[in-house]
Amino acid sequence: MKKTVVVYTSKYGSTEKYAKWIAEALQADLFASSGVSVEQLQNYETIVYGGGIYAGGIKGVSLIRKNDAALAGKRIFVFAVGASQPDEEAIHEIRKRNLQGGLEQVPFYYFRGGFDVERMKLPDRLMVRMLLRMLRKKDASALSGWERDMLDNAGQAVDFTSPELIGPLVQAVEHDN
Ligand SMILES: Cc1cc2nc3c(=O)[nH]c(=O)nc-3n(C[C@H](O)[C@H](O)[C@H](O)COP(=O)(O)O)c2cc1C
Repeated sequence: MKKTVVVYTSKYGSTEKYAKWIAEALQADLFASSGVSVEQLQNYETIVYGGGIYAGGIKGVSLIRKNDAALAGKRIFVFAVGASQPDEEAIHEIRKRNLQGGLEQVPFYYFRGGFDVERMKLPDRLMVRMLLRMLRKKDASALSGWERDMLDNAGQAVDFTSPELIGPLVQAVEHDN
């Protein structure tokens, strides 16, 4: 088996859980993005990057995007972990917004994470409260999937993480490896 590494950026642990499950299934090395350099990543043939979604952006994905020249020739896979339902249109939007500049063809996977306002750090908690106030004023028919989910989940802790979701990504990485 050729060398694979799983790298992740996770604020509250959902992405970390998926990264650990994936690394275990692939018998790959595992790093938090804060603890790995591009030079280290160059030692691998396959890189799986995962990040939590914050206001539509995949946290830390610039590690891959900005270093596309240094990582040229690697097999790259990206997954994102968000609180909203795996809605096809929303997934397409996340992909379009985050995987540009040469990453358009990178295989992309979305996994559902969790949401617990009580566990969030103050800036995130304040941002969520502000967002909720704004969303409550909006016409229900004008809400996007993520906004609707956010209103539905507000105030309660939810955790949708499941190791069963990683199958398609693991199979794609194993294919041709
Ligand atoms: C300020 C803030 C913004 C968020 N924005 C989104 C979003 O745009 N789409 C989404 O699906 N989830 C969003 N979430 C939910 C996170 O993606 C979710 O909690 C995920 O599990 C976080 O993963 P992590 O704990 O690995 O960082 C947001 C959460 C916070 C606190």
